[in-house]
Amino acid sequence: MRIGLLGTGPWARLAHAPGLAAHQRVDFAGVWGRNPAKAAELASEYGVATYDDVDDLFADVEAVAIALPPAVQGPLALRAAQAGKHLFLDKPVALTAAESGEIARTLSSAGLHSVVYFTRRFLPSLAGFLTEAAAEGGWVEARVDHAGTIYDEGNPFGESPWRREMGGLWDVGPHAVALVVPVLGPVAEVSAMVAPHDMTHLMLRHTTGAVSKITLSVDVPPAAAREDAVLFGEAGIRSIPNPDWDPILAYGTALDALLAGDTTMDAAFGTSVTAVLEAAAESASGGRVVTVAVR
Ligand SMILES: NC(=O)c1ccc[n+]([C@@H]2O[C@H](COP(=O)([O-])OP(=O)(O)OC[C@H]3O[C@@H](n4cnc5c(N)ncnc54)[C@H](OP(=O)(O)O)[C@@H]3O)[C@@H](O)[C@H]2O)c1
Repeated sequence: MRIGLLGTGPWARLAHAPGLAAHQRVDFAGVWGRNPAKAAELASEYGVATYDDVDDLFADVEAVAIALPPAVQGPLALRAAQAGKHLFLDKPVALTAAESGEIARTLSSAGLHSVVYFTRRFLPSLAGFLTEAAAEGGWVEARVDHAGTIYDEGNPFGESPWRREMGGLWDVGPHAVALVVPVLGPVAEVSAMVAPHDMTHLMLRHTTGAVSKITLSVDVPPAAAREDAVLFGEAGIRSIPNPDWDPILAYGTALDALLAGDTTMDAAFGTSVTAVLEAAAESASGGRVVTVAVR
């Protein structure tokens, strides 16, 4: 599959470009970025083309990989889908379920494939654990803490304007929600509370009646940073494994899923995750429980 990359930021450099270059069954066609000099620099590292016009890239590929802020990804993803391209999306797909859903429906009606890069979900050991836990059943509760800092020295994500504005809910929240849904089921309603240090606390009631408690932040005091997830149920208390963060391995597995047309983490699943985050933002600002529209 011939794939072009949109974006030249830290995540395009750390994961997308090397991930595309490393995969045996993918042809990394080239790079588009709003800053042509950055696009040319990244493209030259991999010996691929630079596209000054995003439509020229669309015309030259079968699939598009996107490493752009969610508000920018949404409209470009829709244009790419309308141009008949498979999509390798990053999380979150968009900032509203309506926008994300339109992308998912456009892809589906054209018979196009998609994946959303919920990084750890594509690591084989974690994927295996979640499949087994879902099959076992009987879980009544989950707790996920995904609280770190992007403002430590040398952290490339600390410079990112959209993260500073949107915080942990939209940055790390997609990973946490994507972790609990396969085991506890779709989310019916959300209650959220925001505290200092970008702490966002979510209570999710799943359609199964189970409840997830999720703590998110990209600005905790470094000594309080943690990434931890636990399931509670008839089988007891079980920690969800936290395998070594290997974005290139995960990228390869995600590309395999795209090539195979695997729908487990496609744009429709990404839409259900965005719907939870959107409901959480509404709950936090309105101080009330919000029903999730897309499950
Ligand atoms: N799956 C994961 O684990 C994971 C990890 C990290 C990031 N991500 C996702 O990857 C995406 C990119 O992250 P990042 O850290 O690289 O973000 P970023 O630093 O905020 O921005 C990345 C790129 O977006 C471009 N950009 C910003 N505003 C634009 C606009 N209005 N029009 C066109 N291009 C624009 C930037 O261009 P300039 O260089 O010209 O500013 C840069 O190339 C995000 O959606 C993020 O959630 C996922």
